[in-house]
Amino acid sequence: MGDFIYREGRLHCEEVPLERIAEEVGTPFYCYSHAGLVRRWRAFSEAFASVDHLICYAMKANSNLAILKLFINMGGGVDIVSGGELHRALLAGADPSRIVFAGVGKSRGEIAEALRAGILMFNVESLQEIEVVNNVAGELGRTAPVALRVNPDVDPATHPYIATGLRESKFGIAFAEALEAFRRAKEMDHLEVVGIHSHIGSQITQESPFVDALERLVVLVEKLRAEGLAIRYLNLGGGLGITYKDESPPEPRQLAEALLPAMEDLGVTFIFEPGRTIVGNAGALVSRVLYTKAQPEKAFLVVDAAMNDLARPSLYDAYQAIWPVAEPDADAPRVPVDVVGPVCESGDFLAKDRPLPPLGPGDLVAVMSAGAYGFTMASNYNSRPRAAEILVVGSDYHVIRQRERYEDLVRGETVPDFLR
Ligand code: LLP
Repeated sequence: MGDFIYREGRLHCEEVPLERIAEEVGTPFYCYSHAGLVRRWRAFSEAFASVDHLICYAMKANSNLAILKLFINMGGGVDIVSGGELHRALLAGADPSRIVFAGVGKSRGEIAEALRAGILMFNVESLQEIEVVNNVAGELGRTAPVALRVNPDVDPATHPYIATGLRESKFGIAFAEALEAFRRAKEMDHLEVVGIHSHIGSQITQESPFVDALERLVVLVEKLRAEGLAIRYLNLGGGLGITYKDESPPEPRQLAEALLPAMEDLGVTFIFEPGRTIVGNAGALVSRVLYTKAQPEKAFLVVDAAMNDLARPSLYDAYQAIWPVAEPDADAPRVPVDVVGPVCESGDFLAKDRPLPPLGPGDLVAVMSAGAYGFTMASNYNSRPRAAEILVVGSDYHVIRQRERYEDLVRGETVPDFLR
């Protein structure tokens, strides 16, 4: 997490002390390192430089307009999963011919919006959806470019909620049914089948599931070609994991070494949809301690960020490292505490039984590895305004999303006349 380091006893993001941002912007806030984002993007892109490829950043991980624009400026495309994400991507200036649209439940309206925008392709997930896309394209007098999302049925060995490539998952078309689905799609009047899409899961920390999936997909590409179906794009999805605690996932370069031998002579453009590996460790959620509390069985640190700001610990029991912003003495005693937020739920925690040095009201803590699936999964539960987002660039920082205000909480709500 080299973008967040202690200098002179204070945690900095690049050159900026987090304390300074906390004083000027308030807490909680998400803080992202520009250098960290750029470095990780480059590492991914350079790893696959020897093959024709397009990186479509999975914006569900972090969809702030400034972050999108940063990757767009670096030549990236975008992987979207909703009309709302399409809106954001276009607003950030994404080239529609670099947008791919996945998701099991695209509505007719969303399909029409994406067709009108002229996206690169739909990653279609079922036979019914193939028909709907064909239908909507026909109504609009267009041809829809599609890839079929195939489920290669490999075990990504990750948390069950984020494994998506297994036979029993709701995503994609079963491998055994894929050929037939491609044949059906080929017959449709308003579709052009251009590729195969796959995404086997998220937070994957080994190369082997990717290698296994690619092997199966290469066989499929060849079978389809033998039937006269020219596959031009092979989308290997996202899913590369990061270090939250003690995981040691492959670097993009190592993943590439494992995959490139099977990629090099296939004669397709590869698409990748990385999210977490690009943004996860480039971001932290900074929060202030409100109270400490010792119950007979347990010690608590009550902080001003909560499950509505960062849902991963409550939702997946996920581990997020917690670093005090003031560097603790190496020999300070570490005592296990639950780090909890103000939300009225027992499930509202950011860490459980976490050994931390003594901290008290007013101290700042950084919840690390929060750049991916942090702000994008935030809610207004308990009518809590969502946190500010900050982008640090060297010794400067920019507020890339202001903290929500109370008026934002009630926007769009009305009390009907009969209640007045
Ligand atoms: N492409 C598709 C089709 C996806 O469904 C996903 C993530 C990605 C790409 C990006 O995957 P990544 O590179 O970030 O692993 N909220 C969960 C993660 C859900 C991932 C959903 N799909 C979490 O906080 O761990």
